[in-house]
Amino acid sequence: MHLEFDILTLFPEMVEGFFASSMLARGQRNGLIDIRTHQLRDWTTDKHNKTDELPYGGGAGMVMKPEPIFAAVEQLRKPQTKVVYMAPDGVPLSSQLARELVKEEHLIILSGHYEGVDQRVRDELVDLEVSIGDYVLTNGTLAAAVVIDCVSRFIPGFLGDEKSLTEESFMSTLLGFPQYTRPADFRGMRVPEVLLSGDHAAIAKWRHEQQIEKTRQLRPDLLDT
Ligand code: ADE
Repeated sequence: MHLEFDILTLFPEMVEGFFASSMLARGQRNGLIDIRTHQLRDWTTDKHNKTDELPYGGGAGMVMKPEPIFAAVEQLRKPQTKVVYMAPDGVPLSSQLARELVKEEHLIILSGHYEGVDQRVRDELVDLEVSIGDYVLTNGTLAAAVVIDCVSRFIPGFLGDEKSLTEESFMSTLLGFPQYTRPADFRGMRVPEVLLSGDHAAIAKWRHEQQIEKTRQLRPDLLDT
C-alpha cells in the first residue's frame, strides 16, 4: 500500500518540520507515503500574488479566491485523486474516517485561511470536508498535518508493530489502559503488582477493567453505543 499526499497551503513552513520528523519521515524513507507541501501562492498570476479578496455581501475577514486553488488542483490531480478540504464545519475526523481514507491512493489536502475558501471551490473541487474538532484554528495547515499523521498510521507496516493498532484506544471504542515501565518503584510510587506478576490472563483482565473505568469517567458517551 502506498499513499501520496499533496498539501496546498499558504504556510507550508508550518508543517515541513513535522513531516521531516519521526514516523512520518520514516514512512517516506520506507516508500510507504509521499508527502509534498505546496505554496498556494505559486499558482497566482497577478503581480501581488493575491490569494484572498473581500467577501461579496460584506462581513468580516477575507475569502480565498478560487483561481489559484482551481489551477493548483487541476495541475496536481490524477484520475483517482480525492480532494479534502480542512474546515471546522467538515465531518469530524475519527479512526473510522482515517481507515476509509487510507484506502485512497492520492489525497490533495487543501488548507483554508481567513474566512475560508470561495464556496465554488467547495462545490466543484472538494470531495470531502474534514474537521479535526469543535474549535477554530487560524488556518487548516496543522489540521491537514493531523489528518496525514492519523491516516498514515493505518498503512500496513507503517508502525512496525501492528499490535499497537489493535490495542489502542478507539479501536475497541474504549480508552487506553495505564502503561508503566521501569523502575518498579519510583519515589515510592509503585507499579501495580499485577503487572509484575507474569500472569497474562490477570494482566489482560486488569487492563480491560481499567479501560472500562477510565471510559466511564472520561467518555461515558463511548459506552452508550
Ligand atoms: N481550520 C480551522 N479550524 C479547523 C478545524 N477545527 N478543523 C479543520 N480545519 C480547520
